[in-house]
Amino acid sequence: MNDVSLRPLERLAGRLRAGLLALAALLLTTLPALSPVAAAAEKIGIIGAGHMGGNLARLWADAGHEVMISSRHPDELEAQAQAIGTNVHVGTAREAAAFGPVVVIAVPYGQWPNISAEIKAETVGKTVIDLTNPYPDRDGPMAEEARREGTGVADPKYLPGAHLVRAFNSIIYTNLERLAHREGEPVAIPVAGDDPDAVELTNQLVRDAGFEPVMVGPLSSARLFDVGSPVYVKVLTAAELREQLGLPAD
Ligand SMILES: NC(=O)c1ccc[n+]([C@@H]2O[C@H](COP(=O)([O-])OP(=O)(O)OC[C@H]3O[C@@H](n4cnc5c(N)ncnc54)[C@H](OP(=O)(O)O)[C@@H]3O)[C@@H](O)[C@H]2O)c1
Repeated sequence: MNDVSLRPLERLAGRLRAGLLALAALLLTTLPALSPVAAAAEKIGIIGAGHMGGNLARLWADAGHEVMISSRHPDELEAQAQAIGTNVHVGTAREAAAFGPVVVIAVPYGQWPNISAEIKAETVGKTVIDLTNPYPDRDGPMAEEARREGTGVADPKYLPGAHLVRAFNSIIYTNLERLAHREGEPVAIPVAGDDPDAVELTNQLVRDAGFEPVMVGPLSSARLFDVGSPVYVKVLTAAELREQLGLPAD
């Protein structure tokens, strides 16, 4: 039986089916490009290449992302980058901030004013993962202010226009190294931020690093897992972290 012999209703149904299939194919090809959380590799610029920056660079490079590590002495980072892989690049802080849509701040808290001056023009509109912790003994009076206000309130002034997300500040680097992708339930990483797309992207990068993100709330709620809080540097599953923070179960 050919198309001509089909009754009009069946012909209409056939055309509708074909149209829907074409629409589905179109959506499948265009949606990933529109999504802020693309399945493709991200370009991540990390300011700082020490205990935290270096370990995160390795975890994300292993997950297939393109990473740039940076410091005040980028020439000294070449061997570190090469030891991780060909997808790890080296640059200045400004070059790392310009590298891609995600920037990570992994320097001592007292360096915020210097970092701000060097990179703020590059980070407007970008996702900036902030894992810095204020320690007054090390970082001076600005750290006391941040302890009082909470980092989620104190830090955005250094990078106006950036989509700041607090994450990875409450895990010790040895646990970052040792417990990524552990067997059984993953270790939880508390996350706080105001921009939904930046939070979603951060959540994906937490998973790619081998941990489980737990959304705590807006950026100001980062004080719930700041240095000195009851959950700070505790190794917890997502369910345990939610319970300790009084968050609803997932
Ligand atoms: N260590 C932990 O377990 C841990 C856990 C959670 C959060 N944190 C927080 O994470 C941050 C980093 O800690 P860390 O232990 O990774 O420190 P770290 O090992 O001392 O590394 C700091 C890195 O920042 C670079 N750096 C310092 N000032 C800079 C500047 N002005 N511009 C560019 N790069 C600069 C340093 O390189 P150069 O000196 O060569 O520039 C170094 O690569 C701190 O705020 C810390 O409180 C640490």
